[in-house]
Amino acid sequence: MTNPYPHWAGAIRDVADFPRPGIRFKDITPLLADADGFRAAVAAMADPWRAAGVQAVLGVEARGFILGAALALELGAGFVPVRKPGKLPGATLAQEYALEYGSDRIEVCAGAIAPGTRVLLIDDVLATGGTLAAALLLARRLEAEVLGAAVLVELDGLGGRQRWPDGLPLQATLAY
Ligand code: PRP
Repeated sequence: MTNPYPHWAGAIRDVADFPRPGIRFKDITPLLADADGFRAAVAAMADPWRAAGVQAVLGVEARGFILGAALALELGAGFVPVRKPGKLPGATLAQEYALEYGSDRIEVCAGAIAPGTRVLLIDDVLATGGTLAAALLLARRLEAEVLGAAVLVELDGLGGRQRWPDGLPLQATLAY
């Protein structure tokens, strides 16, 4: 975790009451729109993983696609999309996870990577941790060798890290 925040972190915008009343949303779109900021953010996310031998990045829809694809290129790895239900063709593996009210589901293409592929999971934000924990289960069902996960932003106090296995690296570049 970086403290004090790097200069480019100032481009992340706080939006009140989005997507629902009471939620303070971290909007990374102004950062993505800034060429220097985007490059610096991706480099900062990549730095801990440069010597890890990452072969594939699994990025979670939607903002995890943007950061994950950039990270894959930065690390010389392939990219595998983890998507919302019904978006991927052919046979898929699906993983449900609990929300505050109800549940959600993410999917990956069956056989997207060979068993034993060294994988890094990427998302923009870790909040309650449900999404990333479900992505980890999908990676394990693909028989990946999961090296860990990286998020740009970790929101403290929502219990996200408690849903992640002890001892498996989870790198957050910024924490709020
Ligand atoms: C956001 C964010 C993460 C997830 C984190 O995605 O991009 O994927 O929530 O929350 P959690 O730690 O509580 O699971 P969102 O569901 O808003 O989807 P989107 O990226 O498609 O907008």
